[in-house]
Amino acid sequence: MDRIHIRGGIPLRGEIEISGAKNAALPLMAASLLSDEPLILKNLPRLADIASMADLLTGLGVEIKLNGDNGNGGRTAELSAKHVTETTAPYDVVRKMRASVLVLGPLLARFGKARVSLPGGCAIGTRPVDLHLQAFEQLGAEIELAEGYIEARAPGGLTGAHVIFPMVTVGGTENLLMAASLAKGETVIGNAAREPEIADLARCLIAMGAEIEGAGTDTLRVQGCDALYGAQHQVLPDRIETGSYAVAAAITGGDIVLRNTRLDLLETATETLVRAGVTVEETSDGIRVAGTGGRLKGVDLMTEPFPGFPTDMQAQFMALMAVADGASMITETIFENRFMHVPELCRMGADINVHGSSAIVRGVERLSGAPVMATDLRASISLILAGLAAEGETIVNRVYHLDRGYERVEDKLAACGADISRQAE
Ligand code: EPZ
Repeated sequence: MDRIHIRGGIPLRGEIEISGAKNAALPLMAASLLSDEPLILKNLPRLADIASMADLLTGLGVEIKLNGDNGNGGRTAELSAKHVTETTAPYDVVRKMRASVLVLGPLLARFGKARVSLPGGCAIGTRPVDLHLQAFEQLGAEIELAEGYIEARAPGGLTGAHVIFPMVTVGGTENLLMAASLAKGETVIGNAAREPEIADLARCLIAMGAEIEGAGTDTLRVQGCDALYGAQHQVLPDRIETGSYAVAAAITGGDIVLRNTRLDLLETATETLVRAGVTVEETSDGIRVAGTGGRLKGVDLMTEPFPGFPTDMQAQFMALMAVADGASMITETIFENRFMHVPELCRMGADINVHGSSAIVRGVERLSGAPVMATDLRASISLILAGLAAEGETIVNRVYHLDRGYERVEDKLAACGADISRQAE
C-alpha cells in the first residue's frame, strides 16, 4: 500500500485543473444500461471507483471503449449495453464500491430483473438501501433479500407511481430516476435530492430521450418511454474536489486558481470559507481562492443535503478549523460515523472534542506533522490538508482510500509548490 509524505508550511500558489465529478460519473455510467445504443461520456476522471464501475458493467456485458484525453485532461468513454448477458452484480465487486447498487434501477427497468449484492456498510455508516427498494416496490417490482443479495423482478415492466422519499437520498433519487425513465406512465419523485450530480444525470437521460421535468428541484416528474437512445454527455466538474483544493489554498495561506469548475456547484461551502476570512472570486472558467496569510476565524457549520453544506466537505473543513483562531462547532447530520479523521487530526496536535453528532474544534497556532492513518475517502484528504499546514513531516498511510476520489492528488498539489510525494510501502 502506498504512503504519501508531506512537509508542511508552504503557501500553495498556482493552478489546479478540476476533474469530472466521481459522484456524477458513477450514475452516468450505470445509465448506459438503459439503452441498446452507445452512450458517450466525456471528462471522466481517472479514479479507482470509475475503474470499479467499468469492471462491473463489463461483467454484465457492456462493451466499454476508453479513448484518450478529450482536451482538458478528462477521458472519453463509449459504453454500449447492446449485448448485456448478465443481470447479477456480484458481492466481490459491490463490496468494493457501494455505488454499484446504481445498476439495480437500470437493469430492473430494461430487463425486468436484477440480482445485486447488498452493498453492506462502510466506514462512515451502515449505508442502507431500503429507500431504493421501497421505491422500486412502489413501481411494481417484487423485491426479495436472500443470501446477501437483492433479488428484484418486474416481469411485466415497471409502472410509474408517486414516490415521496421519507428522507433525502442521493443514490435513491438517482436509482429511481433511471428506472422511472423506462417505466410505463408517469412517476413523480417527491423529496428528491437536489445535488448537482442529479441534474447532470437528468440532463444525460433527457439527451437519451427521457422526459424529465424539475431537475435540480425536490420534485422530479418523469414520463416513462418505451426505449432510450444513444447520446453524448460531458460529466460536470467535481465540486468536492474543487472544495478540497479551495481548503488547500486557505489552510496554507496560499492563492490557487481552480480551473474547469463552477462556483455555483458549491456556494454554501465557499460562503463558509468566506465567513472564515478566505478570499473566493469567480473566474472565467472556475474559482480563485486565497488565504489571508494570517489566521482564519473559527466558524460553525452543519452538514445538510444540497444546497446545504456538503457532508463530503466536512472532514476537509475540520482540518481548516483546527488551525483557525477561535472555536468552531461542526455538526454532521447525514452519516452516523463520519468523524474518524478526528483522532488522526488530534495526533497532529488538533484540539477537537466529539459530542454525538457534533465536534467542537478549538483552533491551535500550528499542527505538527505525524504518521497518520486514512480511514475513508474524505478523511484521507483531510489529513493531507492538515499535513500541508503542519510543521514537519506528515506520512499518510492507506492512501488507497484517497485514490478512489482524487485523481493524481500529489501531482496537482506539487504543481502548486507543495512538498509532497507518494512512496510505495
Ligand atoms: C452519495 O451517497 C455520495 N456517493 C456520497 O459521497 C455522499 O456523501 C452522499 O450521497 C450524501 O451526499 C455517491 O454519489 C457515489 P444518500 P449515497 O443515499 O447516495 C441514508 C463520497 O465521499 N439512507 O444520500 O449513498 C444513508 O444511510 C461519498 O464521495 C437510508 O437510510 O447517500 C445516509 O444516512 C461518501 N436508506 C443518508 O440517507 C437508503 O435507502 C444519505 O444517504 C438510502 C440512504
